[in-house]
Amino acid sequence: MMYRRPRRNRKSSVIRGMVEETRLSTKDFIFPLFLLGGKNQKTEVKSMPGIFRFSTDLMLKEVESCMELGINAFDIFPAYTEDQKDKYATESHNPETFYLKAIQKIKETFPEACIMTDVAMDPYSSDGHDGLVKDGKILNDETLEILGKMAVAQAQAGADIIGPSDMMDGRVGYLREQLDDHGYTDVSIMSYTAKYASAFYGPFREALDSAPKMGDKKTYQMDPANLYEAMIEADLDTEEGADFLMVKPALAYLDVIRLLKDNYNVPIAAYNVSGEYSMIKASAERGWLDGERAMLESLLSIKRSGANVILSYFAKEFALLQK
Ligand code: PBG
Repeated sequence: MMYRRPRRNRKSSVIRGMVEETRLSTKDFIFPLFLLGGKNQKTEVKSMPGIFRFSTDLMLKEVESCMELGINAFDIFPAYTEDQKDKYATESHNPETFYLKAIQKIKETFPEACIMTDVAMDPYSSDGHDGLVKDGKILNDETLEILGKMAVAQAQAGADIIGPSDMMDGRVGYLREQLDDHGYTDVSIMSYTAKYASAFYGPFREALDSAPKMGDKKTYQMDPANLYEAMIEADLDTEEGADFLMVKPALAYLDVIRLLKDNYNVPIAAYNVSGEYSMIKASAERGWLDGERAMLESLLSIKRSGANVILSYFAKEFALLQK
C-alpha cells in the first residue's frame, strides 16, 4: 500500500499547472539595452547573438516594441569611444553628453517606462575601471564624488532607478544623500549589493569596449568563494537606504539570492549577465541544447531562488513567447 504518490500531481498538464510554485511574468523583467551615439546606428554584439547596440532614434523604436510586449523597464548602458574617455569619467556627468540626452528623450516619449541607469566609471574611464585609478590602486572615497555627480546627472535626465554597480564602500549612503540634497528623493536605488568578480561579464565588456586596461576588479568586486560576506554588503546597503538589493551574476549565485531573500525585507533583484546569455545562445546555435527551454528553465530557477526582479538579455525573447 502506497498512500503518497507524488506523481499524481504531475499526471496532466492542467494539474501540473495548478501546483506550479513559480511563475514568470513579463512584469518581473528589466531589459538591459546598449546605447550608441549618433543616428541610425544598430550593431550586433558579436558575442551576444540577437542583442544590438542602438543609437537614440532606433532605441526609441526598440523601447516601443518592447512595451507593446509588456516589457516596461529598461537599464540603459552607453558605449563610448576611446577618445571620449578620460581618467575622471567626465562624460558620465557632462549635461551635453549623448546618453543623458537619450534618457531624457526616452522619458519624454514614454513617460510610463521605468528607466534604470548604471552608476560606475568603467564605460567612460580611460582606465576601464569602475573607480578612480591612482598608482595602480582604486581610490574609494575620491570615486564616490564622481559617482555622486553621475547619479545626480542621471536623475536630472529622468532616471527612475539608479544602479550603483561600482562596489565602492559607502556608495549607497553617499548617493542617497546626494540625490536627496538635489531634490531627487523619489529616485530609487537598486544596489549591486553582491557583485562578484566574474568571468561571465566578458561579452558585456565587448559590447561596451569597457574591459580594464590593467589588472582586474578583485579589489572591489566580491570573491566568488564567499557567501556570508554578501550579508555584510546587504546590511550596509539596507542601512544606507537601498530600495532593492541585487545579486550578480545570477545562475552561479542562486544560493546568494536565496540567502538575501530569506534575511532582508527589501525586494531582491538578480542580474542574469551577458555570459549567461551567451552560453545558452552558443550551445543552441550548435544544436547542443534546446535554447528556448534552457532559457525558460534558467529564468525560472532565478525566480524560484528568490529573485523578485530579473535583469536579463532574454527579457524580450521571453515576452515574445507569451504572445
Ligand atoms: C559595470 C557593469 C558591468 C556589468 C554591469 N555593469 C561589467 C563589469 O563590472 O565589469 C556586467 C553586465 C553583464 O555582464 O551583463 N560596472
